[in-house]
Amino acid sequence: MRAPEFPFAFAASAAPVPDVGTFSFDDVVTRLRAAGCVFAEDEARLLLSDFPSPADLAEAVQHRMSGAPLEHILGWARFCGLRIAVDPGVFVPRLRTELLVREAVAALRLSPVPGASSQAYDAGLPAVVVDLCCGSGAVGVAIAAAMASVGGGTPVRLHAADIDPVATLCAAKNVAGVGGQVHRGDLFDALPDAIRGRIRVLAVNAPYVPTASLCTMPVEARDYEARIALDGGADGLDFHRRVAAEAPSWLESGGWLLIETSEVQAVRTAAMLAAAGFDVRTSRSEDLDGTVVVGRCGQAGAVLQLADSVVLRPDLAAGASGF
Ligand SMILES: C[S@@+](CC[C@H](N)C(=O)[O-])C[C@H]1O[C@@H](n2cnc3c(N)ncnc32)[C@H](O)[C@@H]1O
Repeated sequence: MRAPEFPFAFAASAAPVPDVGTFSFDDVVTRLRAAGCVFAEDEARLLLSDFPSPADLAEAVQHRMSGAPLEHILGWARFCGLRIAVDPGVFVPRLRTELLVREAVAALRLSPVPGASSQAYDAGLPAVVVDLCCGSGAVGVAIAAAMASVGGGTPVRLHAADIDPVATLCAAKNVAGVGGQVHRGDLFDALPDAIRGRIRVLAVNAPYVPTASLCTMPVEARDYEARIALDGGADGLDFHRRVAAEAPSWLESGGWLLIETSEVQAVRTAAMLAAAGFDVRTSRSEDLDGTVVVGRCGQAGAVLQLADSVVLRPDLAAGASGF
């Protein structure tokens, strides 16, 4: 539904708001297409359905034509088949991030960790799942919803955390539906001490765009999402470095750290996890255009091929630029 990210940009349109009485489906499509919307028909259908009043519809179309993300206008995004509330300014969950959810669910569905106490698994005790840098909370909510729908699956106790109060307010709306908790603060500082050493799955989609590449992002991201949601520092990997270093003390034995990264940065993200003592593999989905580095804590040789994914191409060496 959303246009592809990097090659796509909106042309700001100065077209006047049309007479509300004559605002047909075709009118909306024509205007969205003229403004550069790749999926104009799909977007028109959603706008017409969510804005039945002609005046509201005209305003929404105008807003979209000026470059605002469709999801901010609608107030929600489709993610892993779920309807996730997305408030203005909050990062819009991306299709590629569905790979992070797939991998997290695959990890949670694994049989008990060899060598570790299997009592918690056998008793069906809840697995602690953390969605760090949660934004809208889409990742954690999707993991919890998927686990709830699996017969006999492990129940999940979800904690979602973000530094941005606008994001945590939004996440609270979404996370409430799966009985999770939302915390605000800088990375692990936000988390309650009670879950230290007890996290089974730590799913992270932290900012990873190199600072110098921010200006190449589409206007939807640059102008409508918070800079702290995108800026990953000089090489884009500041958060991955910090998360890799701190995660081991928060994970249970055999617990999982999963970090979304880009295809070109994956080699370096994986190296950071390996240096922190994780057994590491990289998962890539061409369909979703997603890349996730999966690390397992304290289980030598136990990183399995879990989701429907392929290993990253080795020729994508550190230092390549994809931005
Ligand atoms: C790329 S967005 C991802 C949001 C969400 N995980 C998703 O996939 O839709 C990164 C998020 O990290 C948050 N963030 C940035 N710096 C942070 C920090 N120091 N501690 C916690 N969260 C942070 C931002 O507020 C933003 O919501």
